Amino acid sequence: METPIMSVPLSPQSAARLAAHDQGHLLRCLSGAGPGYAESLESLDPALLASLFKGEGLASPPDLTSLEPPPVVPAGADAAARAAGEKALRAGQVAVVLVAGGQGTRLGSDQPKGCFPVGPVSGATLYQIHAGKVLALGRKYGNTPVFLIMTSAATDAATRDFFREHGHFGLNPEDVWFFRQGEMPAVDRQTGRILLEEPGKLFTAPDGHGGCLAALSRQGWLDKLAARGVSDLFYFQVDNPLVAIGDPVFIGRHVLAGSQATSKVIYRRDASEKLGVFALSRGRCHIVEYSDLPGDMGTATTAGGTLLFGAGNPAIHLFSVRFLARAAAGDSLMPYHAAFKKVPFWSVETGHVRPETENAVKFEKFMFDVLPHAEPWLLVETPRDDEFAPLKNARDADSPEEVRAAQSRLAARWLAKAGIRVPVDAAGHPAAPLEISPLAALESADLDASRLNRNDWSVPLFLGPDGYWKESR
Ligand code: UTP
Repeated sequence: METPIMSVPLSPQSAARLAAHDQGHLLRCLSGAGPGYAESLESLDPALLASLFKGEGLASPPDLTSLEPPPVVPAGADAAARAAGEKALRAGQVAVVLVAGGQGTRLGSDQPKGCFPVGPVSGATLYQIHAGKVLALGRKYGNTPVFLIMTSAATDAATRDFFREHGHFGLNPEDVWFFRQGEMPAVDRQTGRILLEEPGKLFTAPDGHGGCLAALSRQGWLDKLAARGVSDLFYFQVDNPLVAIGDPVFIGRHVLAGSQATSKVIYRRDASEKLGVFALSRGRCHIVEYSDLPGDMGTATTAGGTLLFGAGNPAIHLFSVRFLARAAAGDSLMPYHAAFKKVPFWSVETGHVRPETENAVKFEKFMFDVLPHAEPWLLVETPRDDEFAPLKNARDADSPEEVRAAQSRLAARWLAKAGIRVPVDAAGHPAAPLEISPLAALESADLDASRLNRNDWSVPLFLGPDGYWKESR
């Protein structure tokens, strides 16, 4: 092994630790690298990466022979739960956390995904829609929930700037708490050696949405929430504009059951749908990747013809803050998942390389791995079309067009409940785009039918915050 030039401040202990774990190549570009490089090497945990590369400590599915379909509370009205949820919202017991650290590679935008315009008429961005719901909760229940936003190195600066430029969308900036998740290096798939993005710069990626737990706890956010009297945290992902943030019935069910973790469930369309499924194993709630379900289990149906393991995960959860603090104390219980990815890299031998095939392993934690540690826990069904339309891809499935159409259809269903039928096309979908601002209605019952007396419903329409209709802008 070549002797590193030690003219930059890397401690001999760190250098020895790296060399001992076959990461000596990182020391070869120390000379000439900025001080940030030595710092990034100091904070590496080569022993952890070595064991993850060997497959130790990686997530493994629960014993498949023990899996049973879990109990799910069906969707529907529940007056007692609504009253309990509204009480918690009025008392400021619920905060909201949005995970927005992902790189959005499939969508391919150079901005964080939250900055992407998805409002079918207004062109509102995902961040604006989510922030509008938080603001509307405050107006409706007289107490604006604290809004935590998890960013990553990839999204942090652009997200903070975006909120600042837009006046935090009307929220009090002091009640919008940004925090940054951790990063994980990627390693070469063949050798386990840490990849460099360029000379003197490690290739790192956000450590997965499960990095939320450690970031919330280590940076003191859970303590701050508890000090403010927040007992529960509503968790959701940036890509889904339909999430009923702070849904009072969902909150109430969680509160009345004394649940530590309550999750929404949507039913899978068919056995091939790429969605994690909820499964019961020895009394605990797990999420099993659809690809880990053995063929017959993934396709088995009930006597009624529905999928036996049909309860899919739309990534909408409510966690008790105390439960998260306890889970974070045992954070090593949250395993990493490994994924093969194409990672452009640089090395002394090859220079810059843009690989054609998956050359690297990335390690990520998933938030749902906290669920088996919750007791009691609860699953609650939500109609898929009402609450799940994630923006994932630039075209085809889960594309901006699909996400906009899903919002128009939901607006049409809310209007139908208020007694208004809008013109539809041959497929039964609204003939023109429709959009209801969260500041006009958070749920269909908030629509004031007496104000919806329009003659022409066949043009794009936006129900704005002032409670009256505007034509498309
Ligand atoms: P996805 O797994 O869909 O990833 O994230 P993505 O970054 O949005 O898109 P691709 O896979 O690169 O195309 C689901 C949710 O988890 C968040 C994302 O921001 C999104 O809200 N997430 C993902 C994080 O907050 N941090 C991560 O490290 C990964």
